[in-house]
Amino acid sequence: MAAKRVLSGMRPTGPLHLGHLHGVLKNWLALQEKYECFYFVADWHALTTEYENPRRIPEFSRELLLEWLSVGLDPAKSTLFIQSAIKEHAELYLLFGMIVPVSWLERNPTYKEMLQNLKHRDLSTFGFLGYPVLQAADILIYKAEKVPVGVDQLPHLELTREIARRFNYLYDREVFPLPEPLLSREAAKVPGIDGRKMSKSYGNAIFLNDSEEEVRRKVLAMVTDTGRPRKSDPGDPENRCVAFNLIRLYTPEARVKEIVEECRAARLGCKDCKRELAERVIEALTPIWERRAELESRKGLFEEILAEGHRRAREAARRTLEEVREVLWGPRYF
Ligand code: TRP
Repeated sequence: MAAKRVLSGMRPTGPLHLGHLHGVLKNWLALQEKYECFYFVADWHALTTEYENPRRIPEFSRELLLEWLSVGLDPAKSTLFIQSAIKEHAELYLLFGMIVPVSWLERNPTYKEMLQNLKHRDLSTFGFLGYPVLQAADILIYKAEKVPVGVDQLPHLELTREIARRFNYLYDREVFPLPEPLLSREAAKVPGIDGRKMSKSYGNAIFLNDSEEEVRRKVLAMVTDTGRPRKSDPGDPENRCVAFNLIRLYTPEARVKEIVEECRAARLGCKDCKRELAERVIEALTPIWERRAELESRKGLFEEILAEGHRRAREAARRTLEEVREVLWGPRYF
């Protein structure tokens, strides 16, 4: 039996950070070993919010692809592509637009929340309201069965299932399987240096393309146990220390145990502890940096990877579109 198909996408809106690495990319890497994976740069989705400044999107798209490759996404295993290169997404989006009630879109919690959060942008556009319809087209055009996403995307996935169900029902054919979310595991909540969720817009992120110096500086600036102003005060790393969440991700278990004991016994100071952490983070990022440098030196690599990714994606998308057209219009229309 053929491996199940997995599909996911990311909007090219800026550099990736450790939150993406642990919350998303590690998951994608594991999946490419077991499934047939399609991963794409959602540049049309980026346009829904960045339409006033679209010129930066191509640069972000290339950067995103470079980061995916440098963490180990393998174009021999996964199909990597750019959404806007596969025009069939737009056709399916248009057809779905005909069958989706506007009320489904207006009651979407992610939509309402984004309108609230991005007050400085005018998002009262047709495209922004239709965001999840485009996302449904992205997923269903590949008949993906599994979609790795974060919890914030669950409403979109539910809508995708509703659209699939409605299409199958209206035209009385099981064209689309109902895709299921694959929630990413444990480390989804990587804290930023100030203790809030790591996010580019909070200015608290450690980026994958930060230099060694920047990583060291940021780790040393991380919030620790605020109830422990002096080294001689006993700490409570598991409950009160922000940096401890990163320590757990980057330190062998036996050493984590020691750190906890030494911190509780007021033998290990926060500064020394973070120095050690910084070196561990740097050590973990070094292979990513090295791979990135190597990829950057290989001319024509992008073109090659994308040509192959686009060929594979287009083939799958075309096949679905042919079926969709036939179900809709009947055979031999023109
Ligand atoms: N909406 C997703 C996000 O913001 C990106 C996305 C677009 C996506 N199309 C998709 C994710 C299809 C999964 C499947 O992160």
